[in-house]
Amino acid sequence: MFDSGLGGLTVAHAIMRQLPSESLVYFGDTARVPYGPKSPDTVRRYSQEIATFLIEQGVKAIVIACNTATAHALPMLRQSLEVPVIGVVEPGARAAVRASRSGRIGVIATAGTIKSSAYVRAIEAESPDARITARACPLLVPLVEEGWIDHDATRAIAREYLAPFMHDEVDTLVLGCTHYPLLKSLIAEIVGPAVRLIDSAEETAADTRRMLTDQSLHAASSEAGRYRFIASDDQAQFLALGQRFFGDTIERVELRTFG
Ligand code: DGL
Repeated sequence: MFDSGLGGLTVAHAIMRQLPSESLVYFGDTARVPYGPKSPDTVRRYSQEIATFLIEQGVKAIVIACNTATAHALPMLRQSLEVPVIGVVEPGARAAVRASRSGRIGVIATAGTIKSSAYVRAIEAESPDARITARACPLLVPLVEEGWIDHDATRAIAREYLAPFMHDEVDTLVLGCTHYPLLKSLIAEIVGPAVRLIDSAEETAADTRRMLTDQSLHAASSEAGRYRFIASDDQAQFLALGQRFFGDTIERVELRTFG
């Protein structure tokens, strides 16, 4: 699986929990993060390079843990690769449609994901009558990376970003970016208990399980999964932040650079 950086570890964690016999190779493109403000062509090029590298490592399937890379590169990778490819947008959209009673759904994500309309298309494919309010929240990723998870500056900025959802009275809000689940409590405090927050990690892990079953790709259940973590820059930072968020699941980080 891959992400633009560390945020996709939320998806890795869900897969480790739901599929303990499966081994994972996690690539975080820490040299080129963030993908959110970059053009679709650039994100597609990066995604193709990483996918080729993962195939060289012998993977049997690829999970794109990054929303922006899913939005821009999923169709291309599905076409160009011979292994199954799963993204985070469809599972998140499906979970939102299931959770919403009023059909009024909000989406927050990076600028690239919102501009691509990938979530709007995926939600409408599940529920054509859904009323969707989507908003890019570009300042939230750097605030999370700064560790300002429970900080007044983050709260003030999030309040500003989330105001349209209060006017439109959504009952479900998709956290359409790897970093936003880390702000779940702060966002919940702003939007209130009536709004369900959707984090696609668990749903993506469930999709991965279904795909492995359908394609008879499951690892033997007697095996314990083995994990490799690879970054394109600053392994020490990856290790420190990774351990802070996810404990000692991460013992060592390898380095692989591109270009
Ligand atoms: N991983 C990205 C996403 O889920 C967020 C960080 C970035 O902009 O690269 O969209």
